[in-house]
Amino acid sequence: MMNNNAGERTVLVRAPAKVNLVLRVLDRRPDGYHNLWSLMHTVGLEDELHVRLTAEPDASSPVRLACDDPTLPTDGRNLVRRAAELVLERAAAQGRPVPGVDIRLTKRIPMGGGLGGGSSDAAATILGLNHVLGLGWSVSEMAKLGESLGSDVPFFLFAPCARVRGRGEDVAPLTLAGTRWVVLVNPGFPIETRWAYQCLAESRRGVRPLSASLVTLMGRDRLSWNEVVPLMENDFEGALAPVHPALTAIKTELLLAGAEGALLSGSGATIFGIFHDEAAAVRARDLVGRSEGRRAFAAPAGTGPLTCS
Ligand code: C5P
Repeated sequence: MMNNNAGERTVLVRAPAKVNLVLRVLDRRPDGYHNLWSLMHTVGLEDELHVRLTAEPDASSPVRLACDDPTLPTDGRNLVRRAAELVLERAAAQGRPVPGVDIRLTKRIPMGGGLGGGSSDAAATILGLNHVLGLGWSVSEMAKLGESLGSDVPFFLFAPCARVRGRGEDVAPLTLAGTRWVVLVNPGFPIETRWAYQCLAESRRGVRPLSASLVTLMGRDRLSWNEVVPLMENDFEGALAPVHPALTAIKTELLLAGAEGALLSGSGATIFGIFHDEAAAVRARDLVGRSEGRRAFAAPAGTGPLTCS
């Protein structure tokens, strides 16, 4: 942690992207959300948050937020702002003095891409503020606080890999042995999550049960990439493919470029491919990413939890 002027402390939190190696959308719940069964993994394509305490809170709001991407609103629609306000509210309720907070957000993760960027930023905000305010909250406490902000927020607090169930709040971290590189290819258009759920509802008659292999995996806390890659599946993929043929095209190209497996991430629109090593991943990124409108990235699969520095 960097110590600046007296009374000011700055922390840098890196907020990684995620991919869903498995995403099964199960029954619709009474609260309107769906029960999920997912295996999620972070990827080293990261947003950056600089979180700084300021002695004097701004008159209008205790949270000052700046973002390098002008297309992302910094008002109450921004998950970083909402996360910061939630932390400060909770800290005040615990009787702690609440200073002003200044956050600078650098975006690298494509938005509306199924990569969990907004949720990761929110988790990073909670983690960063827990650190600079010395709140001493446990990972579980932070995850609980994050639940109301977005279904993927709790996962990021258990990074790099976890099995996720329920609406997203039931997170069991697990070890995925070995290393891999991930190529992310964004087709250049976003997909709205709510709309993807509607497409899925319209395109299927019922919920397919979990495969026997997934049921077996459910009980284990250590898996290998070799075991998981053949089981990669995402319920949204078949539902969105007829509407967006570009998604199938990218998947095919990634497989032809040597990916061990390729899949839609979350509710899209990013497709990812799994590669053994950096050289193969970089080659595939350059090849598949060169079509007009696409944005492609090669990054290692995440290796550790979110940290402050
Ligand atoms: O929680 P989050 O903001 O990520 O969810 C966005 C939308 O996705 C929800 O409004 C809901 O329509 C849908 N969703 C769902 N079941 C989940 C997660 C999200 O139906 N488990």
